[in-house]
Amino acid sequence: MRPMPPVRRIAISTGGGDAPGLNAVIRAATLAALGRGWEVVGIRRGFVGLFEPGESVVLDRDRVRGISHLGGSILGTNSRGNPFERREVDERGVEQVIDTIDQAIAGLRELEVDALIAIGGDGSMALAHRLAKRGVAVVGVPKTIDNDLEGTNVTFGFETAAEVATDAIDRLHSTAEAHERVFVVEVMGRYAGWIALHSGLAGGADVILLPEIPYTLDSVCRKILERERSGRHFSIVVAAEGARAVGGERTVESPASAGRAERLGGIGHKLAAEIEERTGKESRTVVLGHLQRGGRPTPRDRLLALRFGAAAVRAIEAGDFGVMVSLDPPDVLTVPLERAISRLKTVPLDGDTILTARDLGVCLGDG
Ligand code: F6P
Repeated sequence: MRPMPPVRRIAISTGGGDAPGLNAVIRAATLAALGRGWEVVGIRRGFVGLFEPGESVVLDRDRVRGISHLGGSILGTNSRGNPFERREVDERGVEQVIDTIDQAIAGLRELEVDALIAIGGDGSMALAHRLAKRGVAVVGVPKTIDNDLEGTNVTFGFETAAEVATDAIDRLHSTAEAHERVFVVEVMGRYAGWIALHSGLAGGADVILLPEIPYTLDSVCRKILERERSGRHFSIVVAAEGARAVGGERTVESPASAGRAERLGGIGHKLAAEIEERTGKESRTVVLGHLQRGGRPTPRDRLLALRFGAAAVRAIEAGDFGVMVSLDPPDVLTVPLERAISRLKTVPLDGDTILTARDLGVCLGDG
């Protein structure tokens, strides 16, 4: 820990895909900072706002009043590629990638801030780590509905997303049963199947497919036909967007380009078509998509977000930089940013939630 710096003003940014609870973090961090006599500026549209004049906003009590229960981010956010890279085509027509971290640091200097609270997922934490290595006093706050950030027990936004997905699965049960159909519910989760596993299990899905466990169509269809034989003429399959068949690739809606990650999507429709062909059962798809990211955070996500926001300010006060606040139940602590970005937190295959699914007879695609 470094000696405590004199803090007069801090900045807050929200980067990457939004997650319910962002506004609660902004509110808690702002009130905790104002309470210490500091000023607070919000950077609009994630780190992108550091590169453009007029993209900051003063955060005062009025600005953060009544926002804890709101989805989205009052600062806006950005998930379009790496904001510390600019792509230019040179005179030979070759694309050059230009590192813009110096401009980001200059942008922060212009705002005359003593510390930055960077709220985001793995991408934003990696950028925060780069800033920290360059001497910026930064504290990260973990956010992602996918819950795939290492170094924290859970991220805010995950429970809300899992609740939306569970509610959808609950609702689909009655219509699936009435029509004797198979429903494939595609949920978010690029590389980690937390949303699929938790919502699928809570919602009583028959098949749950995760990025961590490649599936075979044989296994999935066997389960559906077993149910058919036992008089259960409908089935619910929950598939994470990043699920893939053994030896296959993830289903991509649009490929990666110009520094932007590939957009996943389509596994639900693909699976439904294959299941229908193989089993003869009418199979439909529901893609929950961004519904899982929108709307009110659950009380627990809201509380976690408030705790993270206040803890980030306490970390700044203590001069604890280059860290991310983290839930280590029952406490909120800090962990080095390096740890947070060391790997993605995927579903442990020997964990008790997976064992529970297997004990309940849920097909995970690998049987
Ligand atoms: O990381 C959260 C997430 O919701 C992923 O599950 C999903 O693949 C991605 O964001 C979608 O991001 P965007 O809205 O930028 O396309």
